[in-house]
Amino acid sequence: MKLFRNLLSTAVIGCTTSAYAADLEVTHWWTSGGEAAAVSEFAKAFNENTQHNWVDGAIAGSGGTARPIIISRIIGGEPMGATQLNHGRQAEELVEAGLMLDLTDIAEAEGWRDLVNPVRLLDACTLDGRIYCVPVNIHSPQWLWLSHDAFAKAGVDVPADWFEFVAAAPALEAAGIVPLAMGQQSWQTNLAFGAIMVAVGGTDLYLDILTNKNADAASSAEMTKVFEAFDQARKLSVGSNVNDWNQATNLVITGKAGGQIHGDWAQGEFQVAEQVAGEDYTCLPGLGVNDIIATGGDAFYFPLNEDDEVTAAQKELASLLISKEVQVAFNLKKGSLPIRGDVDLEAANDCMKKGLKILADGNVLPDGVNSFSADTQNQLDTLMTEFWNDQSITVADIQGQYTKIIATAD
Ligand code: GAL
Repeated sequence: MKLFRNLLSTAVIGCTTSAYAADLEVTHWWTSGGEAAAVSEFAKAFNENTQHNWVDGAIAGSGGTARPIIISRIIGGEPMGATQLNHGRQAEELVEAGLMLDLTDIAEAEGWRDLVNPVRLLDACTLDGRIYCVPVNIHSPQWLWLSHDAFAKAGVDVPADWFEFVAAAPALEAAGIVPLAMGQQSWQTNLAFGAIMVAVGGTDLYLDILTNKNADAASSAEMTKVFEAFDQARKLSVGSNVNDWNQATNLVITGKAGGQIHGDWAQGEFQVAEQVAGEDYTCLPGLGVNDIIATGGDAFYFPLNEDDEVTAAQKELASLLISKEVQVAFNLKKGSLPIRGDVDLEAANDCMKKGLKILADGNVLPDGVNSFSADTQNQLDTLMTEFWNDQSITVADIQGQYTKIIATAD
């Protein structure tokens, strides 16, 4: 078939310029309103700037649902044309197995190493000096999102930080408003725990535990304050009877909840709802306590493909994803920061400007912070979820169990 197609395309080239177009299946888990609006910018750019066709392979559910599906398809010999994964080591075994397209030629020709900021996002794509992914955004989990309507209804000012938020909670409850929106999936409560730990415990404590696995730090009085704040958070979420993260965000958008501790991808939902940062909602990086961001987010990978036209389409898409125009169009809708510092974000809103300033000031959590094994991470995730859902578990209980896990963490 391939030979026929090549002959056909050769014959066709004789009288036209376009070779045969490839259908490129692209998998991702961006299915909320804001995420869909953002990924459509990628699709539009690809369809308008190449002769190829974006076949959308959206996978419903969070990354925890989509990643195993994506990875098993590639290992199982049914590769997609391109896929989203997170920054980091999620594709490491696929790359080591030689299943992923080497993008080094494009990266060097286009100077990616000089463009990508922070460059360690490109390091996460690099194995043995070869580049296998294109970073597309920077997301940070440590934000507090606040509804102006909810606080107006409660007759209190919009809080400037986590502590003011907790102090305002009784007024919200008196007005029939759930103080803190939270979806009922463990990754969301664990995200909130990490954000509270950085905000209330501080960066040094956060790193001492997550990187150094220091059990004394885990049992310290400073960490008791973190668990007390996490205890307040779970109490303030009673009544937040939603499952998905974007349903929790919608409680804030509609003023049914006062706030949500969540990543800046929540911002895409506010934008789809045509709400304006600083007017309809407020965003507090580091929960307004510790102006810091992490450089999480997403990168695109391209499984090896036997069809030369598909490979050509993959390379054209990789170039588009890192281009200035596409970086601006996508990140403004995604609520994330661009991965290159030379773009003109005149349309950046209040929240993106806050994130860009923190990034420019270098107040960034180092990468590779969370060096726990999957087993240790699972123990921690389970512990946090049990605490969140069982109010009979005390702060002393969870801190004792947490310290034991850290003491044996690998
Ligand atoms: C993250 C991803 C974000 C956002 C979030 C919720 O893993 O980096 O882009 O989509 O999941 O779905």
